[in-house]
Amino acid sequence: MVASSGLAEGKTPREGWSSRSAFILAAVGAAVGLGNLWRFPTLAGENGGGAFVLFYVGCVFLLGLPLVVSEIFIGRTGQDDAAGSIRKVAEKSGVSKAWAGFGLLGVIAAFLILSFYSVVAGWVLYYVGVLGGDFLGAIGSGDLFRGALPGESQEMIQGRMGDLFANPWLLLAMHAIFMGVTFTIVARGIGSGIETAATVLMPMFFILLVGITIYGAFVGNLTEAVAFLFTPDWSKLTPQVMNTALGQALFSLSLGVAGLITYGSYIKGSAGLGPTSVTIAFADTGVALIAGLMIFPIVFAVGLDPAAGPTLVFQTLPFAFQTMPAGALIGFLFFVLVLVAAVTSSISLLEVPVAWGIGEMGWSRPKSTMIFGGSAFLVGVACLLGYNVWSDVRLLGFWSLFAETDILDTIDGFTGKVMLPLGAFFTAIFVGWRADRKLVEEMTGLSGFWLSLWRFLIAWLCPLAVGFILVTGLFPEILGS
Ligand code: TRP
Repeated sequence: MVASSGLAEGKTPREGWSSRSAFILAAVGAAVGLGNLWRFPTLAGENGGGAFVLFYVGCVFLLGLPLVVSEIFIGRTGQDDAAGSIRKVAEKSGVSKAWAGFGLLGVIAAFLILSFYSVVAGWVLYYVGVLGGDFLGAIGSGDLFRGALPGESQEMIQGRMGDLFANPWLLLAMHAIFMGVTFTIVARGIGSGIETAATVLMPMFFILLVGITIYGAFVGNLTEAVAFLFTPDWSKLTPQVMNTALGQALFSLSLGVAGLITYGSYIKGSAGLGPTSVTIAFADTGVALIAGLMIFPIVFAVGLDPAAGPTLVFQTLPFAFQTMPAGALIGFLFFVLVLVAAVTSSISLLEVPVAWGIGEMGWSRPKSTMIFGGSAFLVGVACLLGYNVWSDVRLLGFWSLFAETDILDTIDGFTGKVMLPLGAFFTAIFVGWRADRKLVEEMTGLSGFWLSLWRFLIAWLCPLAVGFILVTGLFPEILGS
């Protein structure tokens, strides 16, 4: 840890990444997670494929990438929690400190996202258990390289998700374990733990992902999957679909909730933010598209409905592992690595409110972790009860957008469609119009053409496009549709 340069007035030295590549790895680790492997395929399926996917990719590079630069800029300049960092940039730029308010909005959003993120990660954990047990069985039978879940019918494999949802205690146990792990890592601080995990495990994850995708392409229906994912039917691009795609781009890049402000604040020394941000955006989008190419060939091969919703991913992958040579082993490994990807993301989600508690409330790290981790756990419990005991509850039932969504989907949808775009909008206005230009130039390391391009995107395109998508997505009546 290089903490010497981070001495803030009279406080203990603030923690920091050991190097620039450590920051990139941690940021990629935060970006790559259930957003890519679960949320992206789910939404691509629900929103009709091609048009959604291409619009999403457009959002990543035209709106997301400039915002990545902006959030890291704020954090790196401010060297404080989300609100504190914004306040410092405002101070140095001679504008109102009230801008820190959107930092608080982000803190609340990150907290809400964490609550359901942990529940979904709990499903992954359950599949680690299922496939781990199956792999032990393979060892026991002396056939180490057999496929997963031998002899299980399609109904049995798909039915497992329903059984899990009907069992609140099992859901609760998985959610508790996952939140416990997240909690433990964050309570220890930004140490070498996260960095090492990201360095070793993320490359391993990537290799396995590509391998399974190639395999799936052979056994599944690749042509149909590619057509579904990349042939746009623009008539499907309704305002709501655009809103969802924008929200997904922001979610996947960890934007709009001060995630990258917080991680950026642990950067010590210099960093060219352009290349760093491009790396994050490419790695993240690459993993999402590969995940789509892994899952949809199987969806079509086994005749599932692409619009099956949040259970889609879990109901398709086991089929690939069933027929795959050594599928029992690979399936087990795969879910372990998905879990790792989820952990490197969930810690960043918890870190946002925890850093806020430390910076703004003066709490110790353990206390702040306890307060936010504990309450996010409780909100998560409400989410998982929404699948059984509270399945009739509609949190925002008065609002047509959320009239039919269960608790988890409502929190997911509200944060993704409303809070993330709002956070992105304020970030763009703040950095594009209020932050001191010299400071921006100096701290982003951008110059010449790239600086001008970035400035145009962040000052004009982002606020206009995000504002338009947000307003028309939430109030489609405006367009008369
Ligand atoms: N990007 C992560 C994913 O795709 C989720 C995530 C981690 C996140 N940190 C965040 C989302 C901060 C918003 C803000 O799984």
